[in-house]
Amino acid sequence: MNYEFLAIAHRGASGYCPENTMASFRRARELGARWQECDLRLTADDEVVVIHDSTVDRTTDGSSPVRGFSLAALQRLDAGSWFDSKFRGERIPTFSQVLDSLTPNCRLVAELKDGKNFPQIIELAVSQVIERGLEEQVQFSAFSWDVLVEAKKLCPKLKTQVLVVLGEEGGEAPFVDGGTAPFYSNPHKLAADALAYGVDVVCPQADRIDENLVSLLHSEGLKVRAWGVNSDQGPLMLRMLEAGVDGMTANYPDRLLEVYAEFQKNRNSKPKGSY
Ligand code: G3P
Ligand code: CA
Repeated sequence: MNYEFLAIAHRGASGYCPENTMASFRRARELGARWQECDLRLTADDEVVVIHDSTVDRTTDGSSPVRGFSLAALQRLDAGSWFDSKFRGERIPTFSQVLDSLTPNCRLVAELKDGKNFPQIIELAVSQVIERGLEEQVQFSAFSWDVLVEAKKLCPKLKTQVLVVLGEEGGEAPFVDGGTAPFYSNPHKLAADALAYGVDVVCPQADRIDENLVSLLHSEGLKVRAWGVNSDQGPLMLRMLEAGVDGMTANYPDRLLEVYAEFQKNRNSKPKGSY
């Protein structure tokens, strides 16, 4: 089967630009990344906005929870200077703005943050995708089975990607986005749950993925994409490719595209039977 490798610009080209801003998404496209990732949260007036943290403190010149701001107040904040003064004046985008900037060739993975505390974000975000007829271009992700089940119920043709944490037997599920992240020490249980909950793509953290895990998930018809390749980690990218993943998020999408091209070239030049 011919399946496109998902080289996904994490929060846009967030190694080069302030994450989750229009500048970051533009730069990712300029670098040749067809796939982008962004994070969604809700304002006080129930507007879906694109920001990673639950507060504005780290990535703007303001402070306090995102949920405490109206959209108008939120968009007065400077979301660029913290990264570099040349980005002064960048704003927190709305989800609508990001969707409207997608050209037909672009694909987006939108992460539903905090869908457990504010479940209305699921319907608001899904309906914006449906209104624009972007069901084939946009996929939703979350560190939650329930949030993705709800998204798929609202629009069965949407593809969903579950973010999971792999750990040792007896380990604890980390607290993420208002709840505990799906935590697994048994890959068979992970595969069974992914099928039962009807997700399309399983996304474990990169440093825990190996060939056995990928083969198991593939044998159940699931796709595998890694998260957590956040710096310029060529060796980790390569290890993931060798393990057979179908994609990964990266803050330096150009680096990932280079590593992927090199990987493909080496694979094609190997004599038959040696792979
Ligand atoms: O690629 C998924 C990744 O975005 C999940 O982690 O914290 O960057 O949202 P985080
Ligand atoms: Ca994310």
